[in-house]
Amino acid sequence: MKKTISHAQVEKTVEEAYRKFKDNTEGKNADYIPYLANIDKNLFGISLCLVNGKTIQAGDSGYRFGIESVSKVLTAILVLRQYGAEQLLDKIGADATGLPFNSIMAILLENDHPSTPLVNAGAIAADSMVKPVGKSDEKWKAIVDNVTELCGSAPQLIEELYKSESETNFNNRSIAWLLKNFNRIYDDPDLSLDLYTRQCSLGITAEQLAICGATIANGGKNPVTGKQVFDESLSPKITSLVATVGFYEHTGDWLYTSGIPAKTGVGGGIMGIVPGVMGIAAFAPPIDGSGNSVKAQLAIQYIANELGLNVFNRYFISIE
Ligand code: DON
Repeated sequence: MKKTISHAQVEKTVEEAYRKFKDNTEGKNADYIPYLANIDKNLFGISLCLVNGKTIQAGDSGYRFGIESVSKVLTAILVLRQYGAEQLLDKIGADATGLPFNSIMAILLENDHPSTPLVNAGAIAADSMVKPVGKSDEKWKAIVDNVTELCGSAPQLIEELYKSESETNFNNRSIAWLLKNFNRIYDDPDLSLDLYTRQCSLGITAEQLAICGATIANGGKNPVTGKQVFDESLSPKITSLVATVGFYEHTGDWLYTSGIPAKTGVGGGIMGIVPGVMGIAAFAPPIDGSGNSVKAQLAIQYIANELGLNVFNRYFISIE
């Protein structure tokens, strides 16, 4: 069954979501990374990119914020492009940990079987896999080029964030070396950790994230640039990773309430994927106790429910 919604209806709903949640004051900027604590807490942007390449924006959708954990999805895509679906499953895994994003306990519990590239441990392992192994500068170029292709324009490193995070990432240092202990890191641990920290410090806009989501939703073809970024067969793999663990230990609650596979970052960004329909992104710095932006969650949930975007619905959405 097909359900058709109009472009005007989508625009109206995005605008409503923006107005409805703009003044919400719940949550608090992430403060374990000093740079993030000082970002203007009132920033709020929403962006949708349809698979026909049209974008719809509200608020601060052009503001560059720290991509943080949303970058895990993009690097997982790079690893899938370089190695294929099978090897990602063998070397890292595709399972939920059911634990917070930076959990050391998860590694200890799962040392005999893999986890997922979308928590810190798996993301550092993914950076270790990026080719060419051992070559930091070339690996970094591959990471940034991949982000640029997925988003249709280049990200920009936020130097201050990179410095701030590098000076305070003691937990992640432990993770990188614990992975070494279990033979689950495939390049030098310090090099891999540095790449992970740098990729988390990339500045990105909600509009760029919506385009990235739309590229995934559109079978790997960026709907804005027209470039086939990755093989179509990888799209369901990526969306399944995001659906499984995009909100860490609260992924089930998120899917139940929004019906949209989405990935969060402590910088306040969320990127959602509605296969065959759109990428949807929102950004607002204050986060809840689990590291997920309060306003971005509310906005995406509202838009999803108003427009019936739930991927578990029995009908296909067409926006005309
Ligand atoms: O490794 C960290 O702690 C940060 N660079 C990223 C964490 C993050 O975004 C978790 N997501 N909500």
